Amino acid sequence: MKISLTVKEPARVSCDLLVFLVTISFQEELASFDSQTKKLILEAAKIENFTGENKQNLYIDTPHNQSKKVLLYGIGNGRIEKVYDLQNTVAQAVKKAQTLRRKKIALKIHSSFLKTFSKETLSQILTEAIFLSTYTFDKYKGEKHHKEKIVIEEVIFLVSPSYLSSFEKGINLGELFADSTAFARDLVNEPAAVTTPLYLTKVAQTLAKKNGLEVKIFEREQIEKLGMGAFLGVSQGSSLPPKFIKLTYKPKGAAKAKIVLIGKGITFDTGGLSLKPGQSMEIMKIDMAGAATVLGVFSRLSELKPKVTVVGLIAACENMPSGSALHPGDILKALNGKTIEVVNTDAEGRLTLADALSFAVKYEKPEAIIDLATLTGSMITALGQEIAGLFSNNSKLKEKMMKSAAISGELVWEMPLFKDYKEQLKSEIADLRNVATQKAAGSITAALFLEEFVDSSPWVHLDIAGTAYAEKNTPLCLKGGTGFGVRLLLSLLSSA
Ligand code: BES
Ligand code: ZN
Ligand code: ZN
Repeated sequence: MKISLTVKEPARVSCDLLVFLVTISFQEELASFDSQTKKLILEAAKIENFTGENKQNLYIDTPHNQSKKVLLYGIGNGRIEKVYDLQNTVAQAVKKAQTLRRKKIALKIHSSFLKTFSKETLSQILTEAIFLSTYTFDKYKGEKHHKEKIVIEEVIFLVSPSYLSSFEKGINLGELFADSTAFARDLVNEPAAVTTPLYLTKVAQTLAKKNGLEVKIFEREQIEKLGMGAFLGVSQGSSLPPKFIKLTYKPKGAAKAKIVLIGKGITFDTGGLSLKPGQSMEIMKIDMAGAATVLGVFSRLSELKPKVTVVGLIAACENMPSGSALHPGDILKALNGKTIEVVNTDAEGRLTLADALSFAVKYEKPEAIIDLATLTGSMITALGQEIAGLFSNNSKLKEKMMKSAAISGELVWEMPLFKDYKEQLKSEIADLRNVATQKAAGSITAALFLEEFVDSSPWVHLDIAGTAYAEKNTPLCLKGGTGFGVRLLLSLLSSA
């Protein structure tokens, strides 16, 4: 699919559907149509009770108009101020056009959006929404599916001449952000039999070669030498060896700062000997979504050219039960020297992250550490599928993340690192236990556990257990991996 621009009058654009986003004052917004077409639209609106309210739509044959078909899509009073809302609206309109089996769509941009967004930002937002809403993962489907599939080939933005150059920039950025997100979605959607730890190293190496990044893969012996006992413990039940992946992007010229991105990379989470019930295990191929997001960020980072050094770390392994698996009650020693009593082998993410965080602190000494992890089921209970939990030990970094989230349209909500709950992580025989003594506030106690490994580094933890995977189709994402965090991080890095 491609996105293009035109300054032609709506009636003269060659396309097979003209989509007009209109408000409740839509009668005034049809001025660019010839009088016959306008009359047809107004008559149809009356018959169908179309008033321009949010999500209402009206599909009309317009024989006097070059496109022959027009879709009016209601945006209510037109006051859409949040990126999340605008992207969902545009995605819904695109979905509607898709179900109408149209392939070449012209989209009239409503001027009210420019009250809130700059031209460049607006075109980036729209471009992302269009690409994300038409993303599919169907490589394993048969011929019949591919034959019947409706593919939009082109979306043309109708703009005035003064918009052209900023809109072009926005389209390029939007395409980059959406494509990086799709990269992460693909990785999450692939079965665990494909996205093994070894596969993730290959992805990282390919990205490095293509984009001039540095890549280093630490094999089991090196991981042992580094003292990453917690990570090794999780991996020991699997027949696949663990891999520790480090990717580095360095800007041309002096770097402003160094930011470490860490993604949870459990390529399948069975729970280990604390085995998950079958139903909870069904989607556990997604437990490397954090890693997928980090790889998605790196996929086209060299084109974005941020002025900061970016290091990506992934401790990749499977969490499997077997004769060699970790036992509940085992004690592991992390890279920073702290010992951990493993009470529940299903709380494995925090063990692998403990070592990745310690590595970042000890060897990278960054200005900021950001980790993304499908860490706790409690996070889904607390914030659902659209909002990620954000924990931070540093208010400046936290503010930056919140701002980037607002810009990217990905929703985050601040959660407390409530110190009094740390008591629950005390072990009688080791420095820490890997699960709290009480079940309540499971996301908070998990984050408090991670905090034990960041020392005084400015740090943000995003629990993406709910947001990494869409359980049902939404306007911006089909059921499956969402690529959550890619756009947020790209906008953070480009503003750093
Ligand atoms: N990978 C899971 C968390 C998860 C659950 C992600 C659902 C996505 C969807 C994690 O490793 C886990 O199993 N956490 C346990 C922790 C518990 C044993 C303290 C959980 O949340 O139940
Ligand atoms: Zn688990
Ligand atoms: Zn897990």
